[in-house]
Formats: sequence, structure tokens, C-alpha cells
Amino acid sequence: MRFDDISIEPNRVTFWGPRSALEIRSPLPGVLRLRHIPALSHSGLAHGPRELPAKQSFAVVEHAQRPLSFRREAQAQVAVVGTEELSVEVRLDQGSWSLKDASGRELSRCEGFSGEAMPDYPVTRFRSRLALHTPADEAWLGFGEKVGALDKRGMRFVFWNTDVVPHHPDTDPLYQSIPFSLGLRDGVAWGLYLDESWRMEVDVASEDPSLVRWESSGPELDAYVFVGPMPADVVRRYTALTGRQPLPPLWSLGAQQSRWGYENAAEIRSVIHGYRSRKLPLDCVYLDIDYMEGYKVWTWDKARYPDPAGLASEAAQLGVKLVTIIDPGVKQEPGYRVYDEALAGDHLVRNDRGSVLVGEVWPKPAVFPDFTRESVRSWWGGLHRGFVDAGISGFWNDMNEPACFRLVNANETFSINSAPAADKDKVEGPTLPHDARHGEKRHLEVHNVYALGMAHAAYEGLRRLAPERRPFLLTRAGFAGIQRYSAVWTGDNSSYWSHLELSISMMLGLGLSGVSFTGADIPGFMGRASGEMLVRWMQLGTFYPLMRNHSAKGTPYQEPWRFGEPYLSLAREWLERRYRLLPTLYSLMHESSQEGLPALRPLVMYAPGDVEALRMDDAFLFGRDLLVAPVVRQGRTHRHVYLPEGRWLPFFDLGQTGEPVEGKQHVLAEAPLGTAPMWLRAGGALALTEPAQHTTSANWTHLTWHIHVAARVEGTLYEDAGEGYGASRTTRLSGDWTKDLFVLERSTEGALPPSRDTETLCLYGLTEPREVLGAREHRFVDGVLLVDVAADWKKLEVRL
Ligand code: GLC
Repeated sequence: MRFDDISIEPNRVTFWGPRSALEIRSPLPGVLRLRHIPALSHSGLAHGPRELPAKQSFAVVEHAQRPLSFRREAQAQVAVVGTEELSVEVRLDQGSWSLKDASGRELSRCEGFSGEAMPDYPVTRFRSRLALHTPADEAWLGFGEKVGALDKRGMRFVFWNTDVVPHHPDTDPLYQSIPFSLGLRDGVAWGLYLDESWRMEVDVASEDPSLVRWESSGPELDAYVFVGPMPADVVRRYTALTGRQPLPPLWSLGAQQSRWGYENAAEIRSVIHGYRSRKLPLDCVYLDIDYMEGYKVWTWDKARYPDPAGLASEAAQLGVKLVTIIDPGVKQEPGYRVYDEALAGDHLVRNDRGSVLVGEVWPKPAVFPDFTRESVRSWWGGLHRGFVDAGISGFWNDMNEPACFRLVNANETFSINSAPAADKDKVEGPTLPHDARHGEKRHLEVHNVYALGMAHAAYEGLRRLAPERRPFLLTRAGFAGIQRYSAVWTGDNSSYWSHLELSISMMLGLGLSGVSFTGADIPGFMGRASGEMLVRWMQLGTFYPLMRNHSAKGTPYQEPWRFGEPYLSLAREWLERRYRLLPTLYSLMHESSQEGLPALRPLVMYAPGDVEALRMDDAFLFGRDLLVAPVVRQGRTHRHVYLPEGRWLPFFDLGQTGEPVEGKQHVLAEAPLGTAPMWLRAGGALALTEPAQHTTSANWTHLTWHIHVAARVEGTLYEDAGEGYGASRTTRLSGDWTKDLFVLERSTEGALPPSRDTETLCLYGLTEPREVLGAREHRFVDGVLLVDVAADWKKLEVRL
């Protein structure tokens, strides 16, 4: 490998060699794009004009290109291209590069790139490979929705969205493909995103401990690299590139109930009444595929649901929203409006011979919209109209890998896993064959972005149809950038304790990969959960941004009252805690929309050099300050947790406090059923409200700040109506404690007036004060200073 020519433009430097080219750009501060392309004859590199083939990205948001600097000593074999924050040293004689941060530290090194074309009719099969050097002590995080520990070193993954049922704690691939990873060594983080929708694989230092090897079925490897130094910096930059999650409507953060198998409108009503009559908080019920007539999307089974709008408005009166499932497979049935329109509009995926591809999913036979095309997305988006008009509040996109169980050829049907599709080179998993046509593109190239296109269509459609509301979408499959449109749940898990535990590292991986709004089916989609499992899963689920109870047809019902006492009462307590937590969760969702940071964060996020924190992947931070270590094993009443550097106030069950503990140590927490261990970081401030039966507004009428007083205190609260795009208010607390004086100041921004007269402050970690200024009332009880302040308070002074 070598480069023997360089073209230098202000915003782009390209290195040309006989076997490959490397194009360097900078779309954003601290981000470089390194596009590796083999000298394939089709790319026009080997002969002809020196211009790289155009490339469409599905994930990257458009950015202006930033200027690059270029340095090369006369005739030297090394050229340096970059920006202030990040640069690449390219070795011309070796055709390789080294990535350095502003201090000159090597973040990564390319050990080789190769690309080859294997013309293999009917799909041209490409293979391109990129190998990166990785030091032995480098941890690898991210990779989207993947199984395994938080640090994925030593694992191998395939990026190919797959409907797997049932899946196990080591199943790969699952439903999402997000080829983003975060390297972490000596406390310094950097990021790598491969902007390739093609089927890919990565070997994370498993075959060769010194290499991370990426392989794509496509012709090139389009890499983006992100400088840190903190993990949060990398996530901010990655989400600046691929987009951030919009703020969801408040109701979607409330408790959600679902089941595949609710028979009809009467059963939906009885589920809602089941919640209300037992005083269980609830905001949303899902309608699974049985509401449709013969599994035809955008239809209602009139016998089961004679009056969908009536049902929606009845539910609304009880504070409950309805969400319907929408699958992409469209039943092939002449006379069915959606099919007729799809056919007439040429909206469908075709097979290799050019005719409409017919398969089977729930509807048999079924055809598939081609969401890679704007015209198809706009048609599909418009199909939401009838449901929006009927009062359906959100949409659940499923089977969008896309799943396809069988192929239909004339009068014969073939299981995807047997002839003629069994050949692994032609299809993989229960989906469409590699050579299926999406316009000009083949399925192998766009399979992984099928769900992204569907979610894009739905999101844009809802923005058009109900511009005053924030869309709520939930998806199973996705690709990098899916956070721009939809929440993600982790698919068909089971009521295994191992799946409960695994949901933590899966969501942490998704969160680092830009997807903050995530959840897993509570207490497992398949199988049989016990009352104990329900309670433990709800304790963890209280912190899932999406808290949904869902179960499969044929399994026992899982609504909280099915388990009897004491489980029902414990479930109620945890649902109430979830609602108390909403001011903080909502503020974290707002932070995700502004900064791209996830609500659930690994401990290592703020202790990047601490290997013990890295290994602690059955606990997490909720935001920056609340460390949650739920019990995820059967029968356990104690659990071990490592607390990173800092001082930590026990805050079990969002309120049981004790003596603060110094961090950088392992502790054993007592956690009988009903209790989840948590700690509040010194300097942290957590905003809680009162429990409610359902959400109303995110302009909280009751608010209590729980503050672990330290030298510096910081807290943020975002408030608005909880829906729509109206006025908001951001409140910032900032506190300083020097010797015998603690001063806490509050500032606000935004036009929304408060809807409360008073607030309560619970200050932990202080001794009994001599004087408190700025309070309406105060008490010192059991080591806690309780202060009532006017809602427009500005400053509190505590003299000790
Ligand atoms: C898929 C979904 C599951 C849903 C079922 C029926 O398995 O993952 O959540 O209940 O299909 O629609």
C-alpha cells in the first residue's frame, strides 16, 4: 500500500495510490472524515478523472465542510492533515495513517485498508477491510444495541438488522446496527463511526488482541473519527454528526402497558380500569397487531374495534394515550387501499427480475414499501392521517428489519431458510434477499437502513399532520441516526434474570451510540415472570427512559395485579417513584435533545481512567449524579457495587438516606425485595415531584430539590407544557460551600411562568445551621436541612 499523489483543496485533501485512495475532510470541530476507497475500476480511480464516486449517507446530517491544514516537508514520506483539535499523519510509503489529538497523543493507527470487488452475479459482492491498531489496555464501548459487557473488547459483531425470536444473552446480531464505537485508554476517549449501511462485521481485538478489524460488504469504508478527551465529548460530537433525539412528549415518559394478545376494545378498557381501580399510574396503552383487519396495516378490525376514535377519547378522559403498532409489510390484496396505492405509485421493493417482491410476514402474502425513496416516505407518512384523526397518539414500528418469513414465487412459497434462498450469499436471516431492488440499490446495501427510512417517513408525516404535537415513535430496528425520529426498545427478550441484567449494558451501549430514549420489555416479553422478577424489573425500569410492560401471546398476563401481594403494592410504589422522578427524567431527555448525552450513563463516563468503574456494568448513572445499582439476580437481598471517586450519599428508593460514603471503594448494599440501592453524588441536585396517576404538564406544581451539599453544587431543570413547541423555562442551581457558609443561587431562562408558589429544598451533608437567609421556613431534622422557599427564589444562604 502506498500513496503517490495528493490533491489539496481548502476543505479536502485526497491521497491517491495505485490500490486505494484516502479522502480527508472535517465536517465539525473535533471530527474528521477519513474515506477509504479501493482503486476499483468502477470508481474511476484507476483510470480516468480523479474524482471519488458520490456517496449518499443515510445517517449523517448535512454539514458545511471546515478548512483543513496541510503540512509536508519537501519530499518527506509523511503528510499531516487536520484541524486544531485533531490531525492525521499519513504515511505515503505505507498508505497508512495515525490519528493524533492536539497534544500529539496517538488515538488510533491504521494498520491497513483493502478493498476488493468480486463480481458475483446477481449482486456485486464487495469486501473492504480496515484494521486499526489497539493497545492492550484500550477498552471499546458503544456499538449500539449489542450483547455482552460494557467493554466489548474480545467480542465479534455482525451489523445486520435481524428479527431473532427467541434470543439469548449472547445472540448477535439483533435488531439494530449502529457502527459507532468509543475507544478508552488512560482516561482519554475517542470515537469511530463507520458510515456504511452495508452488512458489516467487526472483530474487537478478539482474533488478534492488537487489532480492531472492520469488514464491509460494500466497496469502501467511510470512517468518522471524534476527539474527546472525555467520553461525553465524543458522544456530543457523534450526535452532532448523526443528529440528536427530539424532546419526546411528557406522556411517553409515563408508565406504559402493552400485550400481544389483548383481544379487543373491551379488553383495552378493562386494562385501563385495572390500573385506575388499583391506583396504579398509567399514561399509555399499546394496541398490538390484533387490532388490524387480517394484519392489514392502516385498517381496523371492525368487530374487535367498532369505534377506535371513541375508545381513544374514553382513554384520554382517564389520562391514557393509545399507541398502535405499524408493521411495514403490506398485505398483497387487490382492492385494499394501501396495497393498491403502493402498486400504482411504484412504492414497492422489487425482486432481482424487476417484478414486485412478494413475501410473507403476519400478512400473507405481503409486499414491502421501499423507504429509501423520498416519494415513498412521503406517501407512507400521509397514511398516518386516519389514525391521527382517530386520536391515536403514537406509533410503534415493528418487524422493520424488515422481517420476512417466506418468499412467494408464483404459486409456490419458500421458507427463507430453505431453498432457493438458503444460500447464505443470497439472504441472511428472515428478511429480503440480498439482490432485492430498492430503486437503484440492492437490499444488501440498504437492509440496515430500512427501519431508519420507515421511522423518517413516520416522523415527517406526523410533523405535517399534527404540527402542534411532538411525535412519539417506538422502533425495533434502526441504524445510526435513528435517535432523530424514534425511541428504541430492545425487542423480544424473555423473563430471564440474565435478560434483566443484560438490559443495562445494552442500554448503556445504545446511549453511548446516540440513542437515549430506550427501554426493554418489563418483565420480559416471552416466558413466565415471577412476582419477584416483576418488582426487580420495575425497580430497574423506573430508570428506563421508556418504561413499558409488554408480553407475548400465549404467555401469562403480566399487568402488575396478576402477581398478587406483596408484588402489586411494591409495583405501585415503584410506579409512583417513576412519576416522582419525571422532572429529572424530562430534563435529561431535554439534555439529550440539546447535547446528545444519554439519560443512562456508565459509571466510567465521569471516571474515564478508573478500570473498576469500567467493569461496573450492572449499575449506571441516571444523568450525572444519581448512581443506581438495582438487584438483578434472583433471591438476592444484598448487592455489591463500586462507587467511583467522589462522596456519595445513600439515597435508596429515592429517599432513604444515610451517612455519605467516600468513593473509589467497593461497598455492599442491603436491598431486600422492594429496595433498590442508589447514591447521590456530592454536588448533585435531583429534582423530584409528587406521584400522580398520569402526567399532565411538565411545568411542575410540586417540586423538591434533593441536594447533596459539597464545595460546588450544580443542578438543572427543564420545564414546559410537556407537549408541543411552546414556552419553556430552564432553571439552574449553583452552590458554593466555603467554611461555614453555603450559598445556593438559582437562575432561570425562558418565558414560561412557574405553576407553583413554593419549592422545597432538602439539603444533605450540612451540620445544624446557625442562620438561614432567603427561606420562608426551615427545619433541621435527622441531619437534613429542609427549606421552604418561594418559587421565584434567587438565593439561599446557610450559616453553619
Ligand atoms: C414482534 C414484536 C413484539 C410484538 C409481536 C407481535 O415479535 O417484537 O413486541 O408483540 O411482534 O406484533
